[in-house]
Amino acid sequence: MSITILGIESSCDDTSAAVICDGKILSNVIAGQAVHQKYGGVIPELASRAHQSNIVPVVDVALKDAGVSKNELSGIAFTQAPGLLGSLLVGTSFAKGLALSLGIPIIAVNHLQAHILALFAREKDDNTPLPETPFLCLLVSGGHTQIMRVDSPLKMEVLGKTIDDAAGEAFDKCAKIMGLPYPGGPVIDKLAQDGNPDAFKFAKPKIPDLNYSYSGFKTSFLYFLRDRMHENPDFIKENLNDLAASAQKIIVEILMDKFVKAIEQTGIKRIGIAGGVAANSALKKAVTGLGEQKKLQVYIPKPKFTTDNAAMVAQTGYYKFLENDFSPMDIEPKARV
Ligand code: KG4
Ligand code: ZN
Repeated sequence: MSITILGIESSCDDTSAAVICDGKILSNVIAGQAVHQKYGGVIPELASRAHQSNIVPVVDVALKDAGVSKNELSGIAFTQAPGLLGSLLVGTSFAKGLALSLGIPIIAVNHLQAHILALFAREKDDNTPLPETPFLCLLVSGGHTQIMRVDSPLKMEVLGKTIDDAAGEAFDKCAKIMGLPYPGGPVIDKLAQDGNPDAFKFAKPKIPDLNYSYSGFKTSFLYFLRDRMHENPDFIKENLNDLAASAQKIIVEILMDKFVKAIEQTGIKRIGIAGGVAANSALKKAVTGLGEQKKLQVYIPKPKFTTDNAAMVAQTGYYKFLENDFSPMDIEPKARV
């Protein structure tokens, strides 16, 4: 009998639903929330309300796209942690209600693990081989920056992480300082294409082990621009592309320095990237270049599976279903793990 899982993602500001059948992604529907744009960041209360209005139509379309009726579902996977509590609550409650009415199990999914398992997501006609383990994965999103050792889809360990801001947050904050819209990462990526990455220099943090820090860079970027704007109020406007390229260069260099250290320390010859910042063109280029230089196998997720999506949740749910790793109906969402 087929195993068909509905995946639901609602941890931040994207409401998403996806269907996976026997390991193949059949649909992946994402409704973003434009409501936050004018505030330059996600407003939790508005996010939660938007999830409430989006979730039913998003699930409906995901089932229709997949050509699956809800009675054919074997289980429902949902993001349980980490994330915004009010947002997680919407997906969790919906998953419980639907699963109860269908008499099928629920599967709680960790959002960070799901980002990594996006590397295993394959659509119907995609026969690309799955990543081999162990591999080292740089998990970079708006809320997290970690180096993970992945021993199997369900077994992974954190080797290092940020002690303050995440890499995505650094992109978003630099963008905000320059008056660019939220989320700033994709905007900076685009502007950087026409900029000189060596135009401006910023200091790198000195943090021990495999840990990261971005707060010092963010502050130096802020003070640098404040001083320049004092001399020339049009400084940002006149140097936007160079500023974007220079900021992107340092954010990526900081990521890569520790990633290289982790590769050298572990001797693992396979590497991957995951999370929203894995969509960044400079990071992809750096990781691919490193792979060529050090003869490593490199895994990069499809762009549509990098930022928040339910395909990665469905994928994780599928692996957990195979292990009978179900969750009790009284499980609660958690903002942190
Ligand atoms: O994984 P994600 O969708 O949500 C979280 O779990 O946080 O990641 C969102 C983050 C945002 O900070 C966004 O600016 C960043 O990913 N991002 C990018 C790019 N696309 C998304 N950062 C740099 N370059 C991009 N192309
Ligand atoms: Zn995410």
